[in-house]
Amino acid sequence: MIFAAILAGGIGSRMGSIDKPKQFLLLGDKPILIHTIEKFSLFEGFEKIIVLTPKSYISHTEDLINKYFPHNDKIIVLEGGNLRNDTIINGIDYINDNFKINDDSILITHDAVRPFVTYKVIEDNIKIAKSFGVCDTVIPATDTIVEAKDGKITSIPNRDNLYQGQTPQSFKINKFISLYDKLSKEDKNTLTDACKIFVLNNEDVALVCGDETNIKITYPYDLQVANVILTNKVLNNDK
Ligand code: CTP
Repeated sequence: MIFAAILAGGIGSRMGSIDKPKQFLLLGDKPILIHTIEKFSLFEGFEKIIVLTPKSYISHTEDLINKYFPHNDKIIVLEGGNLRNDTIINGIDYINDNFKINDDSILITHDAVRPFVTYKVIEDNIKIAKSFGVCDTVIPATDTIVEAKDGKITSIPNRDNLYQGQTPQSFKINKFISLYDKLSKEDKNTLTDACKIFVLNNEDVALVCGDETNIKITYPYDLQVANVILTNKVLNNDK
């Protein structure tokens, strides 16, 4: 079984003063979150597309989904958690409570605020998670990355080995749970990245080639960029 978790449980503090979490802001004429769900709804293989939002936005999200996806009973809205990984765990708890999964069951997790994820990237995540067990979506780093401590450079790693992490991050659910349960409470609070949980346990994580347009909307400037990308995609009829 294959599930998708759209992580929309954050509040978007880095977006500055906004009257709602950033995933509900308009991109073009639709909320960012709706663009993201649309990409996942095109793929028919999902058992459920689980959308996780802050508790106070559950009914608003349900209203949006009824409006934009009136005939899609695969989409379900649940409460997210305090931390990003708590949000993932809430999705997994729902899956465990409602489905008889096995060791091959897969979860594709994706940031709600990456609305330009492509069908190919989703498809590649499913393929690689099935065959390899876990994968992360990345693009090669374009800038030189400098590591520094106390205001001084400690290293300049070879750019050929550096990538920028995107989402989806996808994995076999039972494996993720067995590794997550091993973490200390402190690690659970500091690990915001699902794949890092695998890396810290010396598990190999495969790479899926992401897309330059698969940006994360974090700051107000990103939303301006996203509107330009959207306009270009509409003009080019690009999916
Ligand atoms: N996210 C989530 N649950 C959380 C925190 C984050 O589902 N407890 C989701 C966000 O909604 C977002 C994605 O994870 O879609 C990426 O996180 P980020 O960009 O950091 O979002 P926020 O936490 O909302 O932003 P900020 O850090 O600026 O507050």
